[in-house]
Amino acid sequence: MIDRIGEIYKEIESASLNTVEELESFRLKYLSKKGMISVLFDEFRNIPPESKKQTGQKLNELKQFATEKYNSSSSFLKKQEDKLTVSDYTRPAFPYPQGSRHPISIVRREIIDIFSRIGFVVSEGPEIEDDDHVFTKLNFAPEHPARDMQDTFYISRISEEDSNPEDVLLRTHTSSVQVRVMQRQKPPIRTISPGRVFRNEAVSARAHCIFHQIEGLYIDENVSFADLKQTLIFFARELYGMDTQVRLRPSYFPFTEPSAEMDVSCTICGGKGCNVCKYTGWLELLGCGMVHPNVLEACNISSTKYTGFAFGMGIERAAMLKYQINDLRLYFENDLRFLNQFRTAF
Ligand code: DAH
Repeated sequence: MIDRIGEIYKEIESASLNTVEELESFRLKYLSKKGMISVLFDEFRNIPPESKKQTGQKLNELKQFATEKYNSSSSFLKKQEDKLTVSDYTRPAFPYPQGSRHPISIVRREIIDIFSRIGFVVSEGPEIEDDDHVFTKLNFAPEHPARDMQDTFYISRISEEDSNPEDVLLRTHTSSVQVRVMQRQKPPIRTISPGRVFRNEAVSARAHCIFHQIEGLYIDENVSFADLKQTLIFFARELYGMDTQVRLRPSYFPFTEPSAEMDVSCTICGGKGCNVCKYTGWLELLGCGMVHPNVLEACNISSTKYTGFAFGMGIERAAMLKYQINDLRLYFENDLRFLNQFRTAF
């Protein structure tokens, strides 16, 4: 029996295991229940007791050798197979899962595109701002409620030398970019500033603590309220269609005088009255006005030589009117069933 074990050992040693088929026939021949090694174990029961020790040892060695050879070849072949599936250049390239732009990005790009056609260039400013750019230079009185902690996220300064720890904050509107542009650029200025803004609000269908705005600013000699009106009519018709009507209602902002809010004719009913516009025919879109002389002077621009207009709108709001979205939270949930609806080339 020892001799037979030796012969099988050599056979196993020289067996080639390069394919799945070879591997399987090896297993059947040597390692299965009816395979050669099992047969030897059966015969082992009948050999004389005095040779059991030596033969048993050899037999166990043979079984171990065959099992190891089988296992290592099997894992090698598996790895080869995995490699092939990863770099299979013959796999079809389509269907390719295609993403879509977020509705906020679509509308932001569209608004930028509309204003760039009439000479407005994009400018940006920091999201972490100071009180000066967000409030003081925009003519907010020291006790103005917008400075209140209820609305504004303040960030304490780390350095102890800073006398006023409430000076650093997250901007509550993109009007702060107006100030930065005026401080570094001489008129004529024609700019739009898109960006994120932050307000300490409870999240609901109508309010969010983070949202997006676009600010517009035009400063030159002899800029009038008529220029503001004409620019905004052009904008509203480009964004919502040529039949769109606009109306201005008097309003108040510290940084504009006079100030107004602009409504567009309802994008659903066209102005006839429906439940979206609460049967008024109008939807509020943006705030605007003539830049307050105090703001120009605070930024070292002569208020006797120059005049200008400014406007600001929420991008979420502009997109809601365009796509009839009725809940602000949808923009932030990343639900693919919502996002997939905005396939566009823009
Ligand atoms: N900053 C205002 C807000 O966040 C929007 C705004 C109103 C901007 C009138 C302007 C403006 O530039 O002239 O509600």
